[in-house]
Amino acid sequence: MRPEIYKMNERIITNIPEEYRVDEPVPSQEPERQAFFVSLCRNYIEQNLREGRQLKYAIVTFGCQMNVYDSERLKGVLEKIGYIEASEETADLVIFNTCTVRENANQRLYGHLGQLKPRKKANPHFMIGLCGCMMQEPSVVAKINTSYPFVDFLFGTFNLHRLPELLFARLQENKRMIEVLPEPKEHVEIKGARRKYPFKSGVNIMYGCNNFCTYCIVPYVRGRERSRTPEDILQDIRELVEDGVTEIMLLGQNVNSYGTNFMEESEIIDKDPEYGFPELLEDVCRIPGLVRVRFMTSHPKDLSDRLIEVIAWNPKVCRHIHLPVQSGSSKLLKAMNRHYTKEAYLALVDKIRKALPDVSLTTDIMTGFPGETEEDIDDTIEVVRKAGFDQAFTFIYSPRTGTPAAAMEQLPEELVKTRFQRLLDVVNEVAHQRCGRFEGMVKEVLVEEKNAQLDSYLTGRTEENILVHFPGDESLIGKYIPVLLKESKGFYYIGEAGQTAGDTV
Ligand code: SAH
Ligand code: SF4
Ligand code: F3S
Repeated sequence: MRPEIYKMNERIITNIPEEYRVDEPVPSQEPERQAFFVSLCRNYIEQNLREGRQLKYAIVTFGCQMNVYDSERLKGVLEKIGYIEASEETADLVIFNTCTVRENANQRLYGHLGQLKPRKKANPHFMIGLCGCMMQEPSVVAKINTSYPFVDFLFGTFNLHRLPELLFARLQENKRMIEVLPEPKEHVEIKGARRKYPFKSGVNIMYGCNNFCTYCIVPYVRGRERSRTPEDILQDIRELVEDGVTEIMLLGQNVNSYGTNFMEESEIIDKDPEYGFPELLEDVCRIPGLVRVRFMTSHPKDLSDRLIEVIAWNPKVCRHIHLPVQSGSSKLLKAMNRHYTKEAYLALVDKIRKALPDVSLTTDIMTGFPGETEEDIDDTIEVVRKAGFDQAFTFIYSPRTGTPAAAMEQLPEELVKTRFQRLLDVVNEVAHQRCGRFEGMVKEVLVEEKNAQLDSYLTGRTEENILVHFPGDESLIGKYIPVLLKESKGFYYIGEAGQTAGDTV
């Protein structure tokens, strides 16, 4: 499944009219080159589009934390160009950052595009951009090309940083721009993300995935696993902390294999060829000013004793591990290419719980994988009960073209739906019991925002990633405060700030 290169870089920058040029020639190196196109876009918009008002953008994000963080970076770029954020309904430019992990994610994009078509007709200046994982599939690009010709520009996951150049080309050539690369050509980190929360941020420690679980499309659309150097990551985090960030989430499809393939040379790795995720985590925790460190996702096959030790000894690492199990059946796990058995997973959970008794464990589970039987679901249910997950994201298996499992015999939809419900009931029951374990205790909460539903309430999270809603003043947003967890509501708590109970944080 190798996407073609639809359009190569060099062609786009020819033919820049004099009036939009800045004085220097087009830089050939990144990130200078995109900074140059940011200025060109600004000039062009000033002269042709603004008509005395501020242009507005919206980015609609589907998918995982990787995409959420990518969108924050794209927002930073658009704001440098001079756009301000607005709703999808009022924006002059809407970009969809897409996900293709399941078919319903794709369908949602087509739904949005269908709705935008009339707006495009009514206002020729209104622009639509597409990016993200779906765009790495040639069949998707072909469909957009024929069925949605009103899309203005489209790019993939390996050239995210080139938004300014593509946008400029689209603005001034007045025709559709499509650029999708089959693999990363160069890696350019985009700096200056526009964060949703000023006090917390994602940080990519690696890109891509090498695991090729048989159901999963991610390795095809995000490429081979590439780790960033510790120097780069630590520098990024230091800059974020200087900018007010106190909580970070280290991001990778399998953070536990961090350090297997580095993108660039690094002194640290030279000195210590054994440098891996536990070592990185320790170094990150040493950064002054950082209060909480989270990470996502941990593949059970690579979670080492050393990592458990580092978490246990480092109070900055949040007591929350997302450990996707996918299935409790050893037979299915083998067919999924997960490299662990039901017993190995449960043994790992035991080990984690011994070292971190209060840890909150969350997971991803799939039903409907080819060949699944009722006994396989029984196995999964047994794992849910024994592992005692605080939360489990349950999915119905969705065949992805090009993956090995898509070529296997598929199960009937109705049967899968019944099994899904049976599993969901147990997942909810276990999660409700688990969530209640802190009732009556006081926990430190990072206050994130005003509660959208309850007037004069705030919402925050404990280090276990449990949501707490409590009455309070907006001035507390971004602060760490003790909150009494008064009443468990199954998946969240109603709390009271400024209280102490018998038990403290
Ligand atoms: N790298 C992470 C998962 C990333 S995808 C890991 O290995 O755990 C997030 C979740 O989507 C997966 O854990 C899986 O449960 C689900 N998923 C992936 N492919 C899927 C598919 N084809 N159908 C349904 N769910 C899928
Ligand atoms: Fe997909 Fe497996 Fe890689 Fe996770 S580890 S992204 S499930 S292939
Ligand atoms: Fe979706 Fe891409 Fe993430 S396919 S789950 S957005 S890596």
